[in-house]
Amino acid sequence: MADSVSTSVCVYGRTLAQYEQIFDFQATDWQGDRILDCSGGPASFVSEANALGIAAIGVDPAYDPDLEVVRQRIEADIDTVVQLFPIISAQLGDAAPDPALVEGSARQAAAGFLADFEANRDRYIQAALPVLPFDDRQFDRVLCGNFLFIYASDDGFNYPFHYQSVLELYRVCDREVRISPTRGSGGGSHAYVAQLLSDLTAAGIPAELKAVRDPVYGETQMLLLTRPAA
Ligand SMILES: C[S@@+](CC[C@H](N)C(=O)[O-])C[C@H]1O[C@@H](n2cnc3c(N)ncnc32)[C@H](O)[C@@H]1O
Repeated sequence: MADSVSTSVCVYGRTLAQYEQIFDFQATDWQGDRILDCSGGPASFVSEANALGIAAIGVDPAYDPDLEVVRQRIEADIDTVVQLFPIISAQLGDAAPDPALVEGSARQAAAGFLADFEANRDRYIQAALPVLPFDDRQFDRVLCGNFLFIYASDDGFNYPFHYQSVLELYRVCDREVRISPTRGSGGGSHAYVAQLLSDLTAAGIPAELKAVRDPVYGETQMLLLTRPAA
C-alpha cells in the first residue's frame, strides 16, 4: 500500500463550476447540506460552497499548518502540470483540454482556496485516506475528485488502498459518496472499478456508475455510492 502522503500526487485543483460538471450536481440544490471534499487539495469548492450556504469542509494531507508551505507546493505543482501539457495534449489528441483554459481555472481555483485557507482554517483538515478523522455519517455527501483511480498503481495506491478508502468515504457519509473520474490511463473505466463494484455489492453497499458531462477535461463517468434510508 502507498504512503498516505505522497509527493507524486499533484496538488492541483478545480473550481466549483468544474465540480458541478465532474460530479453532476447543481450547488444550489445542496444548500444546507454538510459536505466533505476529500481530497480537497487547492480546489475552490469549499470556499465557493460555503458562500452559497453549504456547510463544506475539505480534507487533504497537503493542508500543512504553514500557509507558505501550502502556497509553494500549489504553485510548484501547477507549474509542473503546465509543463506537462504538451505531453498530455499529444496523448489525448482531440480530447485534450484547452491548455489556457485549464491553467486559468487552476490558478483561479488556487487563489480562491488560498484566501479561504488563510481566513477560515477550521474548514480545512490535514489527514489522508484510507483513515479519516470524522464520525460515522458526519456528512450528508462526500465528494472525492481526481485522486482515486487517477493515481492508482499496483505498487503504490493499489486495489486494497482503493477499497479501504472507498469504505472509509462511505463510513463518514449519511447519504451518498461521489467519486470522479473513474477512467484509467487508456480511457474507459479503470481496471479497479469492476472489482470495486463487485466488492461493494458483496458488502451490501449500493454502488453504480453514472454518466457525467465535463467539457473541459472530457470526463464521462463517476461512481455513486448511496446509503438507503433507514
Ligand atoms: C489532483 S488533486 C485533486 C483536488 C481536487 N479534488 C480537485 O479535483 O480539484 C489530488 C489531491 O490528492 C491529495 N492526496 C494525496 N494523497 C492522499 C491521500 N492518501 N488521501 C487523500 N488525499 C490525498 C493530494 O494532496 C492532492 O491535493
